[in-house]
Amino acid sequence: MANHRWPILLLIVVVLSCSPFFGHGYDFAAPGGGTKTAYLKVDASGNQHPTIPSTLFGVFFEEINHAGAGGLWAELVRNRGFEAGGGVAPSNIYPWNVIGDERAVKVATEPTSCFANNKMALRVDVMCDGASCPAGGAGIVNPGYWGMNIQQGKSYKLVFYLRSIGPVDLTVVLIGFNRTKKLAAQNVGGAFTGWTKREVVFKPIMSDPNASLAITSSHKTVVWFDQISLMPLDTYKGHGFRADLAQMVADLKPGFIRFPGGCFVEGAWLRNAVRWKETVGPWENRPGHFGDVWNYWTDDGMGLYEFYQFAEDIGALPIWVFNNGISHTDEVDTTMIGPFIQEALDGIQFAVGPVTSTWGGLRAAMGHPKPFDLRYVAVGNEDCGKEHYRGNYLKFYYAIKSVFPNIKVISNCDYTDPSTPTQDPADYYDYHKYTTASDMFRLRHQFDTVPRTGPKAFVSEYAVWREDAGLGSLKAALAEAGFLMGLEKNRMAAYAPLFVNANDRKWSPDAINFDSYRAYGTPSYWMQTFFSQSNGAALLNATLDGRSSAHLAASAIIRSDPATGNSYLTVKVVNVADDPIDIKIDITGANIDSRFVSKKTEMTYGGDVMAENTFDEPLKVDLNRDNFVI
Ligand code: AHR
Repeated sequence: MANHRWPILLLIVVVLSCSPFFGHGYDFAAPGGGTKTAYLKVDASGNQHPTIPSTLFGVFFEEINHAGAGGLWAELVRNRGFEAGGGVAPSNIYPWNVIGDERAVKVATEPTSCFANNKMALRVDVMCDGASCPAGGAGIVNPGYWGMNIQQGKSYKLVFYLRSIGPVDLTVVLIGFNRTKKLAAQNVGGAFTGWTKREVVFKPIMSDPNASLAITSSHKTVVWFDQISLMPLDTYKGHGFRADLAQMVADLKPGFIRFPGGCFVEGAWLRNAVRWKETVGPWENRPGHFGDVWNYWTDDGMGLYEFYQFAEDIGALPIWVFNNGISHTDEVDTTMIGPFIQEALDGIQFAVGPVTSTWGGLRAAMGHPKPFDLRYVAVGNEDCGKEHYRGNYLKFYYAIKSVFPNIKVISNCDYTDPSTPTQDPADYYDYHKYTTASDMFRLRHQFDTVPRTGPKAFVSEYAVWREDAGLGSLKAALAEAGFLMGLEKNRMAAYAPLFVNANDRKWSPDAINFDSYRAYGTPSYWMQTFFSQSNGAALLNATLDGRSSAHLAASAIIRSDPATGNSYLTVKVVNVADDPIDIKIDITGANIDSRFVSKKTEMTYGGDVMAENTFDEPLKVDLNRDNFVI
């Protein structure tokens, strides 16, 4: 229970509405006319209001839509180790290609790498020599993930491994989209009779959001390449995350981050499910894997360590979802689940174990001796109905509790769903909801009557989708806002999915849309920023008059700032009706002094409830930014 003795300095009224006429003036009372009026009573009296947990609103990161590979992870080279084509040579090296005259160069994969976990390397035979070579030479080129965003004034570090027969004289070059402009180039020469690591820092003289990396020779040569990485030096907190995308997640002020999936964790087949041990340690030694649910290869630059690091960097508690021996297609019988349990225990030890432990030691070697603040793990994703889930779950639960008694365990079984009745022990249970706008708005009452004892609901995925949402509509955001107001009575929640690279949209809608150089938030993204203030705030009683509550939802919080001694009272109101409704807000019991001011923030868009933001109009759905307070 929060005790609020400080004066309320600022009243923030957040209005989410499809009507541009909703609310006028800070008391929102209609001056007259035909518009309906609703009444909202906010009771701030007393000083024992329930405290909303600081983990109430968070985010869910899944490796879907190239959220990480080609997204949040700032690596610019795609298929950096030539492993994406599989372990049988010769293999496909997409999206690598040859550059220069194709008659002047021959390429083929060979399993001869110096890296034990990913044996494929690329042999390049340049067959032209001097004057017989095309201008710029012949070699290989990588366009990254639909173009590399190369910016003048920034620095980019190229790391690669090579081996050659005799001396080589190579040019490593960042080239513009039309392949005529050199944005940056350097020479790499020498005799590399054994595998050798080379590093180059580029300082481009021009910008191009659609650039490529090329490695060429103008001399006859045979050279092998492997593990070619190009990263901007300017990444979020220096930890390898694309700065603009990481900042957008941080701006949501998430209390937690659930990762790395979703279906990504399960795999269509177990053989393709993510296995955390293959995503840690030196990046050159990570084999990468094909995510067969979302159908793309990931080099696993963003592995388990990077997820924990990202959580720490944005001030969110990590929630690790691990595979429980069940995929979309195959399952491990409970009698043989032991190795999967050990893998999960090792993953927890990797996060929180002492540096003297095997996996805590690896974490320390990777740069983080201090344990990460892992408090929650989820046993699988959406697997409750599967044949072996319940049996496997119990074994995971008891094993985790016996070794890590403080770790909270999240079950996939919805404890409120009569079709999957369960008494199994759990700290939280997953609740996923993708639905229509009207159903989402209706669900604001879903948790009003569930028991307050026993496992708590974790709404780990929610979104309005399909025809009400398109690629992210105002209508969807309004319904979700109503749903979240219902959740403020102590349920954890995360929108899904978080990211989409617009070049490979596997799932819509998504909160943050991006390409190689741009990013924008959907109305659902901006709606969530209104709720970040609720984490750790005091929840007030906010009551709408009966007639209004069918189309309106409202909530009120007081957020205190111990540094200033001030408190901020925020009233959020959402109107999902077709018509404008004026609202009169009656606040009682607030300790208001002479410094009191009020402010209104609106999210609306005149006329079109299906309005979406786009790359060209990233703030089309009007956020009334002059008044925008987060
Ligand atoms: O968020 C997209 C997918 O929806 C997730 O992978 C899965 O958990 C759910 O079905």
